Amino acid sequence: MKQSLILVGTQWGDEGKGKIVDFYSKKFEAVCRFQGGHNAGHTIYKEDEKFVLHLIPSGIFYDHVSCFIGQGVILSIESLLEEIKQLEEKGIELEGKLRISRYCSLLLPLHAKIDQLREDNKNSIGTTRRGIGPAYEDKTARRSIKAFDLEDNDLLEHKLRSLVEYYNFQIQNIHDAEPFRYEDVYKELVDSYNQASKYFGDVTDTLESIYEEGGNILYEGAQGTLLDVDYGTYPYVTSSNTLATSVGIGSGFPRSIYSDVLGIAKAYTTRVGAGPFPTELFCEEGEKIAKLGHEFGATTGRPRRCGWLDLVALRYSAKLNNLTELCITKLDVLDSFEQIKVCTEYEVDNKKTSFKSRLLHKVKPVYKSFEGWNCSLEECKNYAELPDKAKEFLEFIEDFVGVKISLISNGPNREDLIHR
Ligand code: IMP
Repeated sequence: MKQSLILVGTQWGDEGKGKIVDFYSKKFEAVCRFQGGHNAGHTIYKEDEKFVLHLIPSGIFYDHVSCFIGQGVILSIESLLEEIKQLEEKGIELEGKLRISRYCSLLLPLHAKIDQLREDNKNSIGTTRRGIGPAYEDKTARRSIKAFDLEDNDLLEHKLRSLVEYYNFQIQNIHDAEPFRYEDVYKELVDSYNQASKYFGDVTDTLESIYEEGGNILYEGAQGTLLDVDYGTYPYVTSSNTLATSVGIGSGFPRSIYSDVLGIAKAYTTRVGAGPFPTELFCEEGEKIAKLGHEFGATTGRPRRCGWLDLVALRYSAKLNNLTELCITKLDVLDSFEQIKVCTEYEVDNKKTSFKSRLLHKVKPVYKSFEGWNCSLEECKNYAELPDKAKEFLEFIEDFVGVKISLISNGPNREDLIHR
C-alpha cells in the first residue's frame, strides 16, 4: 500500500464516492479535492443523518483529518459558506481543519447566470447550471479572479471591472438580458471572501509537510472519468480533467501522482444531462433501477438516466486512470432482478467498435446475462456470505476489467461495506 490513495469515479459521476471517501478517511491524515467545483454532490449518511457535500472534502466528519481544496478546484465562496454553515449547525467544527488554496480560481454568481442563459438555449448539454463551464473558461483564458486577488484591492478592482465588462458584452449582445452591476458583483464578492478568508492558505506546502512527516493523503475525485473534458464523451462532459492523473496539477503536489488508485463503479450505470449512453434502458427495468437506487441528482435533484453496467466503458476508465483497485457500489439495488446484464462489446453496423468510437451515440451494446441472486444482501458482512450468483457477477467484472475488486457497497449506510 502506497502512502497516498486517489479515489476516482469510473462512470459519469454519482458512483457513490462520498461514502467510500468517508470510509477511507478514518485511515488518512489528509483528504484533498483536486478538480471540479460545487457541481459535485457527495452524499454521506452519518448516524442516520444525510449530508450532501459539494466542495468540502468528505473527510470532514473525522476530527483527526485535515481537509484541503487544491487549486485545480473552481471555488464558489458562496456555496462554500452555505456548506460551512450547514456543517457548523450540526456541530462540526471547521476552523483549523479546512484549508483552501489561495490560488483557486473563483466561480462568481455571474458565471452561474451565464451558464443558465446558455442552457436555456437550444444547444443545452444539461449542465448543473452552476457556472462550472464559464468559470473554467475564464481560468484558461487567463481572466479568472483568484482567491489571492482579494488580498490586493487595486488589483481586484482592475480585474473584476474587466471581467464584468466582458460578461456584460455577452449578456447584452448574445442573451439580451440585464447587465451585471459592477458595484453589486464587487460587494458580494468582498463580503463573502471576508467571511471565508481564514480558510485560505497554501495547500501545496502543507500537503508536502504532511507527506514528509509520514502522513498519508487521500485525494477525492469528483464527477467521473467519462465526464473528463479530454477523455470523456466530449462535448457532453464537465470542464475539468477528472482523471487520477490530474491530481498532480490540481493539488500542486507532484508526488501525489505516485498513489494507489481506487476506481468506484456502480453495479449498473447512470448519467445525468445529455450525451451518449450505450446501455441506457428505456423500459421498466430502467425505471426499476432508478426507483430502487434512488437515482436523483444530489446537486440538482434531476432524475438520472439508468442502464446496465457497461464493461467496455469501465475497462476504458480502468486503463485511463491506471486503477490499482476497484470498488463496486449499490450492488444491493440489483437484489430483486431475475436477470442482470453487463455490456461486453459495442457494435455499429455489425462491426465491433470501442468506447472511443466517433459513433458512440449509435453503438448497440452486446450483453452477457447473469441469473439474479434474488435475495437481500443487507445482512452480508463479508465476501464469503455473498450468494454465489453475486460472486459470479463480481468476479466476471474483475476478470473482464483486469482490476481486483477490493470493496463492495451493499447498502446506503456507513457500515454497509464488504472488504475483500
Ligand atoms: P457542469 O459540470 O455543470 O458543466 O455539467 C456538465 C455535465 O457534467 C452535465 O452532463 C452534468 O450533468 C455533468 N455533471 C457535472 N457534475 C456532475 C456530478 O457530480 N455527477 C454527475 N454528473 C455531473
